[in-house]
Amino acid sequence: MSLEIIVLAAGQGTRMRSKLPKVLHDLAGRPLLSHVLRSVRSLDPQRIHVVIGHAGSQVRAAFADARDITWVEQAQQLGTGHAVSQALPGVAADATVLVAFGDVPLVKPDSLADCIAAARAGSLAVVTADMPDPTGLGRIIRGADGRMMAIVEQRDANPEQRAISEINSGIMAAPAQMLRELLGQLGRSNEQGEFYLTDVIGLAVARGHEVEGRKVACPDDVAGVNDRSELARLERVFQLREAERLMAGGVTLRDPSRFDVRGELSAGADCVIDIDVVFEGTVVLGENVRIGSSCVVKDARIGDGAVIHAHTVIDGAIVSAGCELGPFARLRPGTELGEHVKIGNFVETKKTRLGPGTKSNHFAYLGDTTTGANCNIGAGTIMCNYDGFAKHETHLGSDVFIGSNSTLVAPVEVGDGGYVAAGSTVTMKVDAGELAVGRARQRNIGGWIPPAKRTKPTQ
Ligand code: UD1
Ligand code: MG
Repeated sequence: MSLEIIVLAAGQGTRMRSKLPKVLHDLAGRPLLSHVLRSVRSLDPQRIHVVIGHAGSQVRAAFADARDITWVEQAQQLGTGHAVSQALPGVAADATVLVAFGDVPLVKPDSLADCIAAARAGSLAVVTADMPDPTGLGRIIRGADGRMMAIVEQRDANPEQRAISEINSGIMAAPAQMLRELLGQLGRSNEQGEFYLTDVIGLAVARGHEVEGRKVACPDDVAGVNDRSELARLERVFQLREAERLMAGGVTLRDPSRFDVRGELSAGADCVIDIDVVFEGTVVLGENVRIGSSCVVKDARIGDGAVIHAHTVIDGAIVSAGCELGPFARLRPGTELGEHVKIGNFVETKKTRLGPGTKSNHFAYLGDTTTGANCNIGAGTIMCNYDGFAKHETHLGSDVFIGSNSTLVAPVEVGDGGYVAAGSTVTMKVDAGELAVGRARQRNIGGWIPPAKRTKPTQ
């Protein structure tokens, strides 16, 4: 029996008070919908139907690269039941259908698989949870024998029903035929005048179908995002889970509640991450990497034993073992540092490869530059890579010394062991072993009278 997934993502998300459709709001650096898609993809379904409506073209555009999605338009948002009906014509008659909500992002594949297994056995299965605060959610009504009888929405519930803590996650699975039959019976006589998907439970019970509630142990797995406060709460849940995963792998986090992964982070044993570090994109840390507070590390590979001091920003860089960066360093895309390179405060690198042991400890701009091993780049060095029209490269050999406050006007080269005197402007190639002095010779003028001490000319 094939598996088809229907993800509901057509609602406006009024309570977000946003121009952005709800399912495109970010959780851990990715749209809510992408979290749901990742989860359902792991089940290897035949087809994934995503129902869109409100700002549908925006949602579609955000997932333009996803070739495995069948987009379904729900022209008017007449409710969750109506939304599922829009997708059903595209579902194979003998399929098992899983309905997931685009605004329930942390759902685990295991919970989905469990629900699908029940549907494959012929039941209508619903994922439920005991919520500490069930306000606003559909409540699970069970009979005296504990069997699920119906779901009642908060707005339509009486005080006794509102006291029930078991809620509907919105996730359900059923044989396609059964779902089709039940959805055909839906009415809209409720407080919102919508076709509620939840009403299929009562209808199924009345028709003698087997209905099963599958309760998840952790309610956060099925918590929905309806407003910004819920979004912020689930962001923290997600981050704490990431933190636990890393700590279990041997990473020390100074404070697991002040740490953010907005992408994929892998870290070797004995890494130590201080507070308020943000990881974005794909980041791979070797073993024993130490990262100081308030750093941002994006799309980077950091080698064993590297030390990154506070307030360093790394984007698109490869940092080899034993490097020391920051505080306040900025590595931009295309930076590749050999082993034991040192990049100090207020040094910016871009499209730059520095050979092993090279140091640039203070205030410098190194753009479109390559160096050999063990160069020393003095404070205030600027690689003038841009002539107002095109970018040019600077190449340094090994053991090059660039004196402080020098500017190297690219394209330019300094050979192995070359020296540049402090304060030079280098416009010509410096051969191996040469000293370049590119500045005016100092003149000392004796008998100098500062202007303030000069007698004013009489008029
Ligand atoms: C829904 C459930 C509620 C459950 C809760 C769990 C119904 C009637 N209520 O309430 O029992 O406890 O989710 O989070 O199902 N959508 C459409 N088209 C529509 C309406 C909604 O695609 O016409 C989509 C939304 O984009 C969203 C999802 O369905 O992704 C749920 O809609 P939402 O309005 O958030 O329902 P809840 O009030 O949260
Ligand atoms: Mg919701």
